[in-house]
Amino acid sequence: MNYNKAILITGASSGIGRAIAEYLSSKGFKIYAGARKNKDLDALNKLVNITAVRLDVTNQEEINSVYNFIKSQNTGLFGLVNNAGIAYAGPLMDMPVDFMYKQFDVNLIGVHRITKTFFPFLLQSKGRIIMISSDSGFFATPFFGPYSVSKFALEGYSDSLRRELLLVGVKVIIIEPGRIKTPIWDKGKELFDKFPEDSIFSEKARKIGEYAIEKGKTSGLSPYKVAKVVFKALTRKKPKLRYLIAPNKFEYKIIKIMTDKMVDSMVKKKLEKF
Ligand SMILES: NC(=O)c1ccc[n+]([C@@H]2O[C@H](COP(=O)([O-])OP(=O)(O)OC[C@H]3O[C@@H](n4cnc5c(N)ncnc54)[C@H](OP(=O)(O)O)[C@@H]3O)[C@@H](O)[C@H]2O)c1
Repeated sequence: MNYNKAILITGASSGIGRAIAEYLSSKGFKIYAGARKNKDLDALNKLVNITAVRLDVTNQEEINSVYNFIKSQNTGLFGLVNNAGIAYAGPLMDMPVDFMYKQFDVNLIGVHRITKTFFPFLLQSKGRIIMISSDSGFFATPFFGPYSVSKFALEGYSDSLRRELLLVGVKVIIIEPGRIKTPIWDKGKELFDKFPEDSIFSEKARKIGEYAIEKGKTSGLSPYKVAKVVFKALTRKKPKLRYLIAPNKFEYKIIKIMTDKMVDSMVKKKLEKF
């Protein structure tokens, strides 16, 4: 099959975004890969079928320039992969308001800026919008509040958008990766030093955070697993609405049917162990 269609991926400098860019380009897709730093743009431009574009999802001017650039290339877009994301973790009661804004600016408003700007291409191609959400988009883990809240919001955004687009032929597909081995885990560590000295939560939050980081770095799945699912979502005639990518899918199925009280008591037991 000929996959010679254009796809824009945000946050393609590392981790999942980079894996998606490499995998889709290897299948013949023409990739516009968003990145922010010169070294990442240069590295991406060296790959076959990839054109790097400078794209910060919080910068509307940059977004507009990429729109005009793609227009000038006459490729349109068949797919948009909203992948760029940051993860702020820590106790909500210690979380500075600025961090909440920043978390949302990238993970939700960034998605809106990008999707709204590039929508004309997708409407024309009857294309597909892929949202990289997370298991944190349906299961709210304590001490990962800002990130989880942003992904819950992204799930709501995606459900609303998918239903709004039902009659115009553009599909919205949500990908929910569990723990994936990427640089995101190291980036989260910086926040630990910012917890206030007198916080009643910081010790527990730090222990849980360190445990999660260690797990992410050692037992996380390969980002190429996510890339393969994105490929499916872009190429299957009837893709699923949601793809969960996690080894513990069954546990999540059970959690989804448990009452909140039951989940809380399970979480409490886990918290007490730290
Ligand atoms: N790793 C996991 O376990 C996991 C699980 C579920 C979901 N996810 C989601 O997967 C996506 C990718 O994360 P990852 O794990 O691959 O982490 P990553 O390696 O840290 O990649 C994040 C990407 O987002 C980019 N980014 C951050 N802020 C941006 C902004 N303002 N504008 C444009 N790009 C920006 C980063 O660019 P720079 O390099 O320039 O900072 C980087 O390319 C995120 O949405 C994340 O929430 C990850």
